[in-house]
Amino acid sequence: MRAYHRGVPVRFTLNGEGRTIEPASGESLLDALRERCGIASIKDGCQPQGQCGCCLALVDGRPLVTCAFEAERAEGRDVLTLEGLSPREREVASRAFAAAGGVQCGFCIPGVAIRAKHLLDRRPDPSRDEIARAIDGHLCRCTGYVHILEAVELMAKAWRGGELPVPVADGGVGKPLVRYGAVGQALGERPFVADMQRPGLLHGALVLSAHARARVLSIDTTKAAELPGVRAVVTAADVPGERWYGLLQDDWPGFVAEGEEVRCVGDVLAAVAAEDARTAREAAARVAVEYQPLPPLLDPEAALAPGAPRVNPKHPNLLSRSLIRSGDAARALAASAHVVSGTWRTQRIEHLFLEPEAALAESLPDGRLALYTQGQGVFDDRRQVARFLDVPEEQVRVELVPSGGAFGGKEDMSVQAQTALLARVTGRPVKLVLSREESVCMHPKRHPIRLDYTVGCDDAGRLTAVVARMIGDSGAYASVGGKVLERAAGHACGPYRVGAVDVEALAVYTNNPPCGAMRGFGVPQAAFAIEGCLDLLAKKVGLDGWEIRSRNVVAVGDAVTTGQLLEKSVGIRKTLDAVKDVYYEARRAGKAVGIACGLKNSGIGNGVAEWGKCRLVVEADGTVSLYNGYTEMGQGLMTVLVQFAVEVTGLRAALFHPKVDSTFALGCGQTTGSRATLFGGRAVTSASAKLRADLDTGLTLADLVGRIYAADEVVDDTTALGADVPKIKTHTSYGFATQVVILDAVGRVERVVAAHDVGRIVNPVLCRGQIEGSVHMGLGYALTEELPCENGMPVTSSLREIGVLRARDMPKTEVILVEEPEPEGPFGAKGVGEIGLVPTAAAVAGALEAFDGVRRTTLPMKDSPAARAMSVGRIRRPRGDWH
Ligand code: FES
Ligand code: FES
Repeated sequence: MRAYHRGVPVRFTLNGEGRTIEPASGESLLDALRERCGIASIKDGCQPQGQCGCCLALVDGRPLVTCAFEAERAEGRDVLTLEGLSPREREVASRAFAAAGGVQCGFCIPGVAIRAKHLLDRRPDPSRDEIARAIDGHLCRCTGYVHILEAVELMAKAWRGGELPVPVADGGVGKPLVRYGAVGQALGERPFVADMQRPGLLHGALVLSAHARARVLSIDTTKAAELPGVRAVVTAADVPGERWYGLLQDDWPGFVAEGEEVRCVGDVLAAVAAEDARTAREAAARVAVEYQPLPPLLDPEAALAPGAPRVNPKHPNLLSRSLIRSGDAARALAASAHVVSGTWRTQRIEHLFLEPEAALAESLPDGRLALYTQGQGVFDDRRQVARFLDVPEEQVRVELVPSGGAFGGKEDMSVQAQTALLARVTGRPVKLVLSREESVCMHPKRHPIRLDYTVGCDDAGRLTAVVARMIGDSGAYASVGGKVLERAAGHACGPYRVGAVDVEALAVYTNNPPCGAMRGFGVPQAAFAIEGCLDLLAKKVGLDGWEIRSRNVVAVGDAVTTGQLLEKSVGIRKTLDAVKDVYYEARRAGKAVGIACGLKNSGIGNGVAEWGKCRLVVEADGTVSLYNGYTEMGQGLMTVLVQFAVEVTGLRAALFHPKVDSTFALGCGQTTGSRATLFGGRAVTSASAKLRADLDTGLTLADLVGRIYAADEVVDDTTALGADVPKIKTHTSYGFATQVVILDAVGRVERVVAAHDVGRIVNPVLCRGQIEGSVHMGLGYALTEELPCENGMPVTSSLREIGVLRARDMPKTEVILVEEPEPEGPFGAKGVGEIGLVPTAAAVAGALEAFDGVRRTTLPMKDSPAARAMSVGRIRRPRGDWH
């Protein structure tokens, strides 16, 4: 550590032992504990906001968010972290969270676990409400809190002297096998990138643009480089290879160069490596950038106007145009008994995964560069970083480190290239971790989309035509924005039979933060509009919400929006039937009720060849390494892949060790489109069958040491949107869902019932967890979440203002799992990662209209009583968003 030391020692007790540290002026207790004392269970999710709870410790017996507490104030205090709990307490906590399925990405869990200890020491038998109130200071983006509450209840039983919770240690398809690695994650023992240490490690920091649009006149790094402890300052001039990268278009520069324009506030101008993180950040602040500010283009319609300045030099402002036409929609509308039309608007929202982006890069003894990331496609990271450094891909070894959540927001490159360059330039390991504020500025968001719909039906309520025009703000870079709007178009009619379709969806560049993949990928936006139209038509015809949907949902033999005829695994009717009693009982009870359906593609499709790849390697210690090309980001992929392997081989789950790295060429692209279980599972099943065949000859694993069982499964039979082909098959599979939202007497969300067709339940606990977490995200989308921008700059990075729901905000959520096996999926399974939030906002809108007669068409519905009852989502700064 460098010159920040004040020389004032701070003495305190840490987990029962006396410690003396010399923190820098203003250093937080969080940083001091992590960096000076080696405490890894406390995490940095939002420093210095003090709003996520990930950094919680007990100080003098009281819960304290250590990121908002100066280390020097620890003098004489007693600090307890999870590392200091008794062995039994640690075992109880870790087993309870693992057994209850309370861990998804796991980033938030250690903080919740020590909060639970504090609660249970004082109140050994808390009610569920008391638990929810106790953990209210903790944000979980993954779970919807349901299984976290159950975990604390399990903990409580053991705390009172009951039996230790027992996670399910083995099981194939259909069994509630404990999440792979959950026990260690609950205690914060499985390192995220930010927890990784290396001898001689340097720390990186970035210089981000202060403007949404400006010409960069000069970048002066002199003062930064002069700071003691700084080892490198790099800019565009230092990039040896191709500076521009991207998932689908190389339109995103790793650094913006002098003379070029910055296009959004997340643009990178320089990067610094220093002996410690504080020095790196101070040096970054000393990089002097001279700008010539230019008026930003913030409105996608203005960006399409003739003469509008071009946002991105690599592509015109119209990023993509997706068209779907079948039948004569104009004529069908003219002949319809009823027609409704309107404009629906959805907002930009932030993924708010709890773990901000981070990467660590280091040179290996053989000269290669090792890159550790939590990206959603580490092979894509490798491809882009190799080009950036101008080295062959084989010279970059990538490894997936546990991811603290992603939801689509870690598909694009964030800090990988800059970290790799700093490691190359300095010859030392470099770790670069974004702050929450930087993270909010940098990664792509969920698209704001304006959706103009006109929909007709006959006098019995059967849909005749859908005409939809969508325009989405894709921000400064392509990311996968064109595909998001393509997916919105392809789901424009929802899970309904429609005679004639006329859909156009545009993705447009602006100087707002980029928008790209986020759970649902354009489909929640389309669902909000088409389901609203269904409700409006139901009124005109004189039907209720369940009945009009019942008259229109697709069945085998029907076509979806893209023209694909459904041939199998269409569970929408089952999901509708599953909620029928709940819907009508609530109405009879005089409740305000909303209902909405949804479908979501499983697999990218649209003519893209997709892969599942697996290698099973029998190791000398008798275990089997299970390599695959898709990413674990909290959704439970590694666990379900093990379950497929267990089901096929008959071996114990504990023998399998899932791995994602570049040992084998297993690149499958991004973990996106609800496809990893579908395609990754097929590959694991196939490789496992080969291992099983050898075991069936009487050989044992000991006999098979060194054998590699390979499976590369390609799926290349989908067709592009609008392709002129005899048989349209835009997607391998679809998931289906119906959700019911019930309000209480004052208009608060009281209950959500979510019925989902998942094909085949591979793991009931993980499956429910995915849907509960999605419903949580869907309720936030409906009511409280937004990320407005002022002049292209997000007006807030405050977790509470961004509006993700807290435990106390979550209503009772019941999940009904329906099985309609998918013949193209492993054991009948299909993806469930995204569909859980597709119908939610529309169902909330329907319930609100039933409550107060107001049909809301703009998200989030903050004017509603349901939103006003939430504890989050109040933005205290001015708003200036494009819509
Ligand atoms: S890091 Fe301290 S509360 Fe979020
Ligand atoms: S498990 Fe809570 S944030 Fe991921």
